[in-house]
Amino acid sequence: MDHKLIQRAAKDILNSKKTIAFTGAGISAESGIPDFRSAGGLWEKFDPEEYADIHAFHTNPEKVWLMLKEMFSLIMTAKPNPAHLGLAELERMGYLSSVITQNVDGLHQLAGSRNVIEFHGTHRTLSCLKCSFTLDGTSLKMEDLPPRCSRCSSLLKPDVVFFGEPIPWEAQTVSFKESKSCSAVLVIGTSAVVYPAASIPITAKERGAMIIEINREPTPLTDGISDYLILGSAGEIIPAIIEEVKRIR
Ligand code: APR
Ligand code: ZN
Repeated sequence: MDHKLIQRAAKDILNSKKTIAFTGAGISAESGIPDFRSAGGLWEKFDPEEYADIHAFHTNPEKVWLMLKEMFSLIMTAKPNPAHLGLAELERMGYLSSVITQNVDGLHQLAGSRNVIEFHGTHRTLSCLKCSFTLDGTSLKMEDLPPRCSRCSSLLKPDVVFFGEPIPWEAQTVSFKESKSCSAVLVIGTSAVVYPAASIPITAKERGAMIIEINREPTPLTDGISDYLILGSAGEIIPAIIEEVKRIR
């Protein structure tokens, strides 16, 4: 972990009028939820075209639920890790305005973050695509999966955004408002290959924001959008930045 960059990030956060975080699956890796595109990631096991596309759900919901069950089993037992907890602390200290997350695991909220925008929806509620019945899924157990609609008995779909589905309007509007009005973005644990999500840091950059990337490896943002990349695990880097903020503020 590059301590000079940790110190630089802490200084940039303290000098920033408004800082937001933009997170991807990498921030939850240390909570035991594999990401999508690293080796051993979810898309190595389940081809996203066959399992994560809305048309796949319409044609073969039972098959898609094989992947969803795997996701639910990981999410149900996952706990926030020091990276999630660090962002929640940064918000409490008044140095973080919002977390825009691509994740659907709810770990930012569990860690105590209050202003969380779920750009790709949430696994916590499920909807019926036939009769628009909705279910609060927070009390679902593995044995309840896949859940059926109590009105028309079709298989329910978690309110996560599948490929081919629109981003929830409110999440999209608030996210771009945040990206246009911030002066720094902490881009944490995302491969930045999925749009429109990946345009959030790009939009911020175009308006002069400082882009601080935290990832185990470079991404398409690293060269040209990020001001600097702090290489390593979010679970170590975020707490180190918070400690440095506390030390120098
Ligand atoms: N610390 C920091 N970065 C990490 C860690 C970690 N411990 N573990 C993995 N990473 C990085 C990887 O190097 C990679 O760049 O996190 C990134 C994860 O990338 P993806 O698996 O592509 O996840 P994400 O960017 O969130 O995917 C975006 O794609 O499949 C869709 O809807 C899904 O929201 C998801 C979207
Ligand atoms: Zn129904």
